[in-house]
Amino acid sequence: MMTDFQKKLTRRRADNAFRTLSDKGDLIDFSSNNYLGLERYIDHQKMSQEINRSGSRLLSGETNYKSSVEGEIARHHQAEAALIFSSGYSANLGLMSCIGGRGDTILFDALSHASIRDGLKLSQAKDLKFAHNDLEDLEHKLSRAEGSAFVVIESVYSMDGDGPDLKSVSTLCQKYGAHLIVDEAHSAGVYGLYGAGLCIEAGIADQVFARIITYGKAFGFHGAAVLGSKDLRDYLINFSRPFIYSTAPSNQFFREIEIRYAILKERPEISNEFHEKKAHLESSAEKLQLNLGGGMSGIYTYVCPGNELVKKLGNYLQEAGFDVRPILSPTVPAGSERLRICLHAYNSKAEIDGLLKNLKNYEA
Ligand SMILES: Cc1ncc(COP(=O)(O)O)c(C=O)c1O
Repeated sequence: MMTDFQKKLTRRRADNAFRTLSDKGDLIDFSSNNYLGLERYIDHQKMSQEINRSGSRLLSGETNYKSSVEGEIARHHQAEAALIFSSGYSANLGLMSCIGGRGDTILFDALSHASIRDGLKLSQAKDLKFAHNDLEDLEHKLSRAEGSAFVVIESVYSMDGDGPDLKSVSTLCQKYGAHLIVDEAHSAGVYGLYGAGLCIEAGIADQVFARIITYGKAFGFHGAAVLGSKDLRDYLINFSRPFIYSTAPSNQFFREIEIRYAILKERPEISNEFHEKKAHLESSAEKLQLNLGGGMSGIYTYVCPGNELVKKLGNYLQEAGFDVRPILSPTVPAGSERLRICLHAYNSKAEIDGLLKNLKNYEA
């Protein structure tokens, strides 16, 4: 007899939505979130030689070095303080689950990342979804929010490559006295001075309650920082369970992040190259009359409804040598299945043109 979990697996397969792990390392990378390819510039001689004492940072896991790197990170992003988590997922889970109390309201965009939603499920606050990037709906819900209100948005949405009007959202939050939280996973490293992010570029950083910077995208590593006030940092150290009850990332981990910030400052040409390649991709797509969506950060989409059809298209491009992944439902709503094309500074113009031409041929 099939157990419940086996039945769920069977259903997944029948829906053509079965997820598998696959290494496509030999194909041309139009899939990773590693927008800048910073690891190509790292001198591993400069890694931390400090001895690591494992444990939660509240016990044996703390070193002065870790706090000093967090100080540097805060300065880079013009924040008062920063606190490192071992991943963006745990940063969002840790922040969302503890920031609101009973009687408070947390409003979140309908396309929020799973880590935000999972954190909200653990929160005692009431959560309210507003329509994607819809200021009117947000205002309507803000006007009914009870207790302290928090608004959670992403500066760039990972599956759509679009983003909100940050200034307008910030103005609305001020009007209603709400705390704004911005997940900058896909904008950190790519926008703002030396990759400081879109809140800096939009001039709203000092009005934002918390920003989440992740190191698994343009920084090409893993981990995340929550930026905000010193009080917010203290609060997370005291109440954020993924921070408290988990082994701290090592000194080497902090060093990897520190080195990447130094590269962003020392080599602005990497970011310039990325933006030049973006302009090239967009003008080539226009010439070919290819209907690409998104375009913020390195994320472009090509909608091809239906899991079976979008998988076929993905296979066709992979056979032609390009690592482009189909995004299936239920990761995105049924009917909006798509290819997610991720551009990098290190993709050559010939590779970009090759990908777009293959896509056009498939259309024809
Ligand atoms: C918007 C957003 N937030 C958070 C995360 C989670 O970050 P991490 O991969 O570091 O756990 C992701 C990753 O896909 C993301 O796209």
